[in-house]
Amino acid sequence: IKKIAVLTSGGDSPGMNAAIRSVVRTCAYHNINCVGIYRGYQGMIEGDFKEMDARSVKGIINKGGTILKSARSNEFRTVEGRKKAYEKLKEANVDALVAVGGDGTFTGAMIFSSEYDFPVMGIPGTIDNDIFGTSHTLGYDTALNTVVDVIDKIRDTASSHNRLFFIEVMGRDVGHIALNAGVGAGAEEILIPEEDLGLERLLESLRRSKRSGKSSSIVVVAEGDKIGKNVFELKDYVDENLAEYEVRVSVLGHMQRGGSPSCFDRVLASRMGVKAVESLLEGKSNYMVGLLNDKMALTPLDQAIKGQSKINLELLRVSDIMTT
Ligand code: F6P
Repeated sequence: IKKIAVLTSGGDSPGMNAAIRSVVRTCAYHNINCVGIYRGYQGMIEGDFKEMDARSVKGIINKGGTILKSARSNEFRTVEGRKKAYEKLKEANVDALVAVGGDGTFTGAMIFSSEYDFPVMGIPGTIDNDIFGTSHTLGYDTALNTVVDVIDKIRDTASSHNRLFFIEVMGRDVGHIALNAGVGAGAEEILIPEEDLGLERLLESLRRSKRSGKSSSIVVVAEGDKIGKNVFELKDYVDENLAEYEVRVSVLGHMQRGGSPSCFDRVLASRMGVKAVESLLEGKSNYMVGLLNDKMALTPLDQAIKGQSKINLELLRVSDIMTT
Protein backbone atom coordinates (compact mmCIF):
# COMPACT_ATOMS: atom_id res chain seq x y z
CA ILE A 1 0.00 0.00 0.00
CA LYS A 2 1.47 3.32 -1.10
CA LYS A 3 -1.49 5.64 -1.06
CA ILE A 4 -4.52 5.75 1.25
CA ALA A 5 -7.67 7.81 0.73
CA VAL A 6 -9.90 9.11 3.51
CA LEU A 7 -13.49 10.32 3.29
CA THR A 8 -16.33 11.32 5.60
CA SER A 9 -19.85 10.31 4.70
CA GLY A 10 -23.40 10.43 6.07
CA GLY A 11 -24.41 12.75 8.90
CA ASP A 12 -21.37 14.66 10.15
CA SER A 13 -20.26 14.41 13.77
CA PRO A 14 -17.80 16.25 16.01
CA GLY A 15 -14.48 14.44 15.91
CA MET A 16 -14.52 13.71 12.18
CA ASN A 17 -11.85 16.36 11.61
CA ALA A 18 -9.71 14.89 14.36
CA ALA A 19 -10.05 11.50 12.62
CA ILE A 20 -9.03 12.97 9.23
CA ARG A 21 -6.03 14.59 10.91
CA SER A 22 -5.06 11.30 12.50
CA VAL A 23 -5.34 9.31 9.25
CA VAL A 24 -3.30 11.90 7.34
CA ARG A 25 -0.59 12.13 9.99
CA THR A 26 -0.35 8.37 10.47
CA CYS A 27 0.16 8.03 6.72
CA ALA A 28 2.87 10.70 6.87
CA TYR A 29 4.51 8.92 9.80
CA HIS A 30 4.71 5.70 7.76
CA ASN A 31 5.77 7.52 4.56
CA ILE A 32 2.53 6.66 2.81
CA ASN A 33 0.79 9.16 0.55
CA CYS A 34 -2.64 10.31 1.60
CA VAL A 35 -5.49 11.81 -0.36
CA GLY A 36 -8.65 13.40 0.99
CA ILE A 37 -11.91 12.75 -0.85
CA TYR A 38 -14.48 15.57 -0.71
CA ARG A 39 -18.24 14.97 -0.21
CA GLY A 40 -18.00 11.27 0.65
CA TYR A 41 -18.79 8.69 -2.02
CA GLN A 42 -20.18 11.34 -4.37
CA GLY A 43 -16.77 13.00 -4.48
CA MET A 44 -15.18 9.60 -5.04
CA ILE A 45 -17.35 9.13 -8.15
CA GLU A 46 -16.44 12.62 -9.38
CA GLY A 47 -12.73 12.33 -8.56
CA ASP A 48 -12.93 15.26 -6.13
CA PHE A 49 -9.60 14.47 -4.46
CA LYS A 50 -6.91 16.46 -2.72
CA GLU A 51 -3.42 15.29 -1.77
CA MET A 52 -2.91 15.82 1.94
CA ASP A 53 0.27 16.05 3.98
CA ALA A 54 0.83 16.39 7.70
CA ARG A 55 0.63 20.21 7.55
CA SER A 56 -2.62 20.27 5.58
CA VAL A 57 -4.53 19.12 8.68
CA LYS A 58 -3.16 21.70 11.09
CA GLY A 59 -5.59 23.52 13.35
CA ILE A 60 -8.54 21.18 12.80
CA ILE A 61 -8.50 18.87 15.84
CA ASN A 62 -10.81 21.28 17.68
CA LYS A 63 -13.18 21.98 14.79
CA GLY A 64 -16.69 20.54 14.47
CA GLY A 65 -18.06 19.32 11.14
CA THR A 66 -15.72 17.90 8.51
CA ILE A 67 -13.26 19.81 6.32
CA LEU A 68 -13.77 17.12 3.67
CA LYS A 69 -17.55 17.79 3.66
CA SER A 70 -20.08 15.01 3.79
CA ALA A 71 -22.89 13.76 1.58
CA ARG A 72 -25.30 10.88 1.16
CA SER A 73 -24.74 9.60 -2.40
CA ASN A 74 -27.51 7.80 -4.27
CA GLU A 75 -25.25 7.22 -7.27
CA PHE A 76 -22.85 5.15 -5.18
CA ARG A 77 -25.73 2.76 -4.52
CA THR A 78 -25.64 1.81 -8.22
CA VAL A 79 -23.20 -0.57 -9.95
CA GLU A 80 -22.31 2.15 -12.48
CA GLY A 81 -21.65 4.69 -9.74
CA ARG A 82 -19.27 2.37 -7.92
CA LYS A 83 -17.50 1.53 -11.19
CA LYS A 84 -16.86 5.22 -11.82
CA ALA A 85 -15.59 5.59 -8.26
CA TYR A 86 -13.21 2.65 -8.69
CA GLU A 87 -11.84 4.11 -11.93
CA LYS A 88 -11.21 7.46 -10.24
CA LEU A 89 -9.36 5.77 -7.38
CA LYS A 90 -7.21 3.79 -9.81
CA GLU A 91 -6.45 6.92 -11.87
CA ALA A 92 -5.23 8.57 -8.67
CA ASN A 93 -3.21 5.45 -7.69
CA VAL A 94 -5.13 4.99 -4.46
CA ASP A 95 -4.62 1.52 -2.92
CA ALA A 96 -6.89 1.61 0.13
CA LEU A 97 -9.71 3.60 1.72
CA VAL A 98 -10.57 4.77 5.24
CA ALA A 99 -14.28 5.65 5.46
CA VAL A 100 -15.51 7.66 8.43
CA GLY A 101 -19.27 7.48 9.01
CA GLY A 102 -22.16 5.33 10.16
CA ASP A 103 -24.03 2.28 8.91
CA GLY A 104 -24.76 3.66 5.40
CA THR A 105 -21.09 4.52 4.99
CA PHE A 106 -20.01 1.04 6.07
CA THR A 107 -22.56 -0.67 3.82
CA GLY A 108 -21.18 1.26 0.84
CA ALA A 109 -17.60 0.41 1.80
CA MET A 110 -18.40 -3.28 2.15
CA ILE A 111 -20.12 -3.58 -1.22
CA PHE A 112 -17.37 -1.61 -2.94
CA SER A 113 -14.67 -3.70 -1.33
CA SER A 114 -16.26 -7.00 -2.33
CA GLU A 115 -16.88 -5.88 -5.93
CA TYR A 116 -13.33 -4.64 -6.52
CA ASP A 117 -11.35 -6.51 -3.89
CA PHE A 118 -10.39 -3.06 -2.59
CA PRO A 119 -8.99 -2.71 0.95
CA VAL A 120 -11.28 -0.65 3.21
CA MET A 121 -11.31 0.25 6.89
CA GLY A 122 -14.18 1.95 8.74
CA ILE A 123 -14.07 4.52 11.53
CA PRO A 124 -17.43 4.96 13.31
CA GLY A 125 -18.46 8.62 13.14
CA THR A 126 -22.03 9.41 14.17
CA ILE A 127 -23.63 11.12 17.16
CA ASP A 128 -26.21 8.29 17.39
CA ASN A 129 -23.83 5.65 18.81
CA ASP A 130 -25.81 3.02 16.88
CA ILE A 131 -22.78 1.01 15.74
CA PHE A 132 -21.62 -2.24 17.33
CA GLY A 133 -18.06 -3.25 18.14
CA THR A 134 -17.38 0.08 19.82
CA SER A 135 -18.63 1.48 23.10
CA HIS A 136 -18.52 4.99 21.61
CA THR A 137 -18.83 6.36 18.10
CA LEU A 138 -17.05 9.63 17.26
CA GLY A 139 -19.19 12.60 18.15
CA TYR A 140 -21.45 10.82 20.59
CA ASP A 141 -19.68 12.11 23.69
CA THR A 142 -19.66 15.67 22.35
CA ALA A 143 -23.35 15.47 21.46
CA LEU A 144 -24.15 14.22 24.97
CA ASN A 145 -22.32 17.16 26.51
CA THR A 146 -24.10 19.57 24.18
CA VAL A 147 -27.50 18.11 25.05
CA VAL A 148 -26.85 18.12 28.79
CA ASP A 149 -25.74 21.73 28.57
CA VAL A 150 -28.91 22.74 26.74
CA ILE A 151 -31.19 20.80 29.08
CA ASP A 152 -29.55 22.58 32.02
CA LYS A 153 -30.47 25.87 30.37
CA ILE A 154 -34.03 24.79 29.66
CA ARG A 155 -34.29 23.68 33.27
CA ASP A 156 -33.60 27.26 34.39
CA THR A 157 -36.58 28.62 32.51
CA ALA A 158 -38.74 25.56 33.25
CA SER A 159 -38.33 26.03 36.97
CA SER A 160 -38.84 29.81 36.84
CA HIS A 161 -42.25 29.23 35.25
CA ASN A 162 -43.15 25.91 36.93
CA ARG A 163 -43.39 24.29 33.52
CA LEU A 164 -43.12 20.84 32.03
CA PHE A 165 -40.85 20.53 28.97
CA PHE A 166 -40.77 17.79 26.39
CA ILE A 167 -37.29 17.91 24.84
CA GLU A 168 -36.73 15.91 21.66
CA VAL A 169 -33.20 14.75 20.98
CA MET A 170 -31.63 13.01 17.97
CA GLY A 171 -30.52 9.39 17.75
CA ARG A 172 -32.44 8.05 14.77
CA ASP A 173 -33.78 4.60 15.86
CA VAL A 174 -31.84 4.33 19.12
CA GLY A 175 -32.05 6.00 22.52
CA HIS A 176 -28.40 6.38 23.53
CA ILE A 177 -28.41 10.19 23.50
CA ALA A 178 -31.78 10.44 25.24
CA LEU A 179 -30.95 7.92 27.94
CA ASN A 180 -27.50 9.15 28.87
CA ALA A 181 -28.20 12.87 28.53
CA GLY A 182 -31.48 12.33 30.40
CA VAL A 183 -29.71 10.77 33.36
CA GLY A 184 -26.91 13.34 33.15
CA ALA A 185 -29.34 16.24 33.23
CA GLY A 186 -31.63 14.71 35.87
CA ALA A 187 -34.69 14.42 33.61
CA GLU A 188 -37.89 13.29 35.31
CA GLU A 189 -38.70 10.88 32.48
CA ILE A 190 -36.82 9.49 29.49
CA LEU A 191 -38.63 8.04 26.49
CA ILE A 192 -36.53 5.77 24.24
CA PRO A 193 -37.39 3.37 21.40
CA GLU A 194 -35.90 0.39 23.24
CA GLU A 195 -38.49 0.53 26.06
CA ASP A 196 -42.08 1.65 25.60
CA LEU A 197 -43.12 3.38 28.80
CA GLY A 198 -46.74 3.75 27.67
CA LEU A 199 -48.84 6.89 27.90
CA GLU A 200 -50.63 5.93 31.11
CA ARG A 201 -47.38 5.34 32.97
CA LEU A 202 -46.07 8.64 31.71
CA LEU A 203 -49.11 10.48 33.07
CA GLU A 204 -48.85 8.62 36.36
CA SER A 205 -45.18 9.46 36.66
CA LEU A 206 -45.87 13.14 36.00
CA ARG A 207 -48.67 13.16 38.60
CA ARG A 208 -46.34 11.54 41.11
CA SER A 209 -43.66 14.06 40.35
CA LYS A 210 -46.11 16.92 41.00
CA ARG A 211 -47.32 15.33 44.25
CA SER A 212 -43.75 14.95 45.48
CA GLY A 213 -43.43 18.72 45.35
CA LYS A 214 -41.50 19.23 42.12
CA SER A 215 -42.31 22.48 40.41
CA SER A 216 -40.79 21.81 37.00
CA SER A 217 -40.31 18.68 34.94
CA ILE A 218 -38.15 17.67 32.02
CA VAL A 219 -39.08 14.74 29.81
CA VAL A 220 -36.38 13.78 27.30
CA VAL A 221 -37.81 12.09 24.21
CA ALA A 222 -35.68 10.24 21.67
CA GLU A 223 -36.72 11.11 18.11
CA GLY A 224 -37.21 7.39 17.39
CA ASP A 225 -39.35 6.78 20.46
CA LYS A 226 -42.26 4.39 19.95
CA ILE A 227 -44.80 5.75 22.43
CA GLY A 228 -46.97 6.53 19.40
CA LYS A 229 -46.96 10.33 19.68
CA ASN A 230 -44.40 12.92 18.68
CA VAL A 231 -43.39 15.64 21.15
CA PHE A 232 -46.10 18.04 19.97
CA GLU A 233 -48.79 15.39 20.26
CA LEU A 234 -47.44 14.51 23.69
CA LYS A 235 -47.84 18.14 24.70
CA ASP A 236 -51.48 18.13 23.54
CA TYR A 237 -52.10 14.87 25.33
CA VAL A 238 -50.72 16.15 28.62
CA ASP A 239 -52.56 19.46 28.16
CA GLU A 240 -55.80 17.50 27.90
CA ASN A 241 -55.12 15.08 30.72
CA LEU A 242 -53.08 16.92 33.32
CA ALA A 243 -54.51 20.36 33.91
CA GLU A 244 -51.93 21.04 36.61
CA TYR A 245 -49.08 21.30 34.07
CA GLU A 246 -48.20 24.10 31.73
CA VAL A 247 -46.35 22.37 28.90
CA ARG A 248 -43.75 23.51 26.38
CA VAL A 249 -41.81 21.66 23.68
CA SER A 250 -38.23 22.03 22.55
CA VAL A 251 -36.80 20.11 19.57
CA LEU A 252 -33.03 20.39 19.77
CA GLY A 253 -32.30 19.41 16.15
CA HIS A 254 -29.03 19.83 14.30
CA MET A 255 -27.27 21.89 16.95
CA GLN A 256 -26.58 18.44 18.45
CA ARG A 257 -24.29 17.65 15.52
CA GLY A 258 -22.17 20.78 15.78
CA GLY A 259 -19.54 22.24 18.03
CA SER A 260 -15.98 21.61 19.04
CA PRO A 261 -15.35 17.94 19.87
CA SER A 262 -14.86 16.97 23.51
CA CYS A 263 -11.44 15.84 24.66
CA PHE A 264 -12.78 12.29 24.73
CA ASP A 265 -13.78 12.46 21.05
CA ARG A 266 -10.47 14.04 20.03
CA VAL A 267 -8.46 11.31 21.75
CA LEU A 268 -10.73 8.59 20.40
CA ALA A 269 -10.45 9.96 16.86
CA SER A 270 -6.67 10.12 17.14
CA ARG A 271 -6.49 6.51 18.29
CA MET A 272 -8.92 5.29 15.65
CA GLY A 273 -7.06 6.97 12.79
CA VAL A 274 -3.78 5.37 13.82
CA LYS A 275 -5.40 1.96 14.17
CA ALA A 276 -7.23 2.21 10.84
CA VAL A 277 -4.13 3.11 8.82
CA GLU A 278 -1.86 0.62 10.57
CA SER A 279 -4.42 -2.18 10.13
CA LEU A 280 -4.54 -1.48 6.39
CA LEU A 281 -0.73 -1.55 6.27
CA GLU A 282 -0.85 -4.95 8.00
CA GLY A 283 -2.99 -6.21 5.12
CA LYS A 284 -6.34 -6.17 6.96
CA SER A 285 -9.53 -5.09 5.23
CA ASN A 286 -13.29 -4.86 5.75
CA TYR A 287 -13.11 -4.04 9.44
CA MET A 288 -14.23 -1.20 11.62
CA VAL A 289 -11.96 0.22 14.27
CA GLY A 290 -13.71 0.47 17.64
CA LEU A 291 -13.18 1.07 21.33
CA LEU A 292 -13.83 -1.94 23.55
CA ASN A 293 -12.69 -2.02 27.20
CA ASP A 294 -10.51 1.00 26.48
CA LYS A 295 -8.59 -0.89 23.78
CA MET A 296 -8.71 -0.51 20.02
CA ALA A 297 -10.53 -3.48 18.53
CA LEU A 298 -11.41 -4.54 14.98
CA THR A 299 -14.92 -5.73 14.14
CA PRO A 300 -15.95 -6.99 10.67
CA LEU A 301 -17.98 -4.24 8.97
CA ASP A 302 -21.08 -6.41 8.56
CA GLN A 303 -21.18 -7.12 12.30
CA ALA A 304 -20.61 -3.45 13.12
CA ILE A 305 -23.83 -2.67 11.27
CA LYS A 306 -25.98 -5.58 12.37
CA GLY A 307 -25.00 -6.38 15.96
CA GLN A 308 -27.31 -6.54 18.96
CA SER A 309 -28.41 -3.36 20.73
CA LYS A 310 -25.82 -2.25 23.25
CA ILE A 311 -28.05 0.17 25.14
CA ASN A 312 -27.71 0.00 28.91
CA LEU A 313 -31.29 -0.28 30.15
CA GLU A 314 -30.08 -0.35 33.74
CA LEU A 315 -29.83 3.42 33.35
CA LEU A 316 -33.64 3.62 33.21
CA ARG A 317 -33.76 2.18 36.72
CA VAL A 318 -31.04 4.57 37.87
CA SER A 319 -33.10 7.40 36.41
CA ASP A 320 -36.25 6.18 38.24
CA ILE A 321 -34.39 6.08 41.55
CA MET A 322 -32.81 9.48 40.98
CA THR A 323 -36.19 11.08 40.33
CA THR A 324 -37.82 9.72 43.49
O1 F6P B 1 -27.40 10.03 12.08
C1 F6P B 1 -27.23 11.30 12.60
C2 F6P B 1 -28.52 12.07 12.57
O2 F6P B 1 -28.28 13.36 13.08
C3 F6P B 1 -29.70 11.42 13.29
O3 F6P B 1 -29.64 11.58 14.68
C4 F6P B 1 -30.87 12.11 12.63
O4 F6P B 1 -32.02 11.30 12.67
C5 F6P B 1 -30.39 12.30 11.20
O5 F6P B 1 -28.97 12.22 11.23
C6 F6P B 1 -30.81 13.59 10.56
O6 F6P B 1 -30.41 13.56 9.24
P1 F6P B 1 -30.32 14.86 8.31
O7 F6P B 1 -29.13 15.66 8.76
O8 F6P B 1 -30.15 14.32 6.95
O9 F6P B 1 -31.58 15.63 8.52
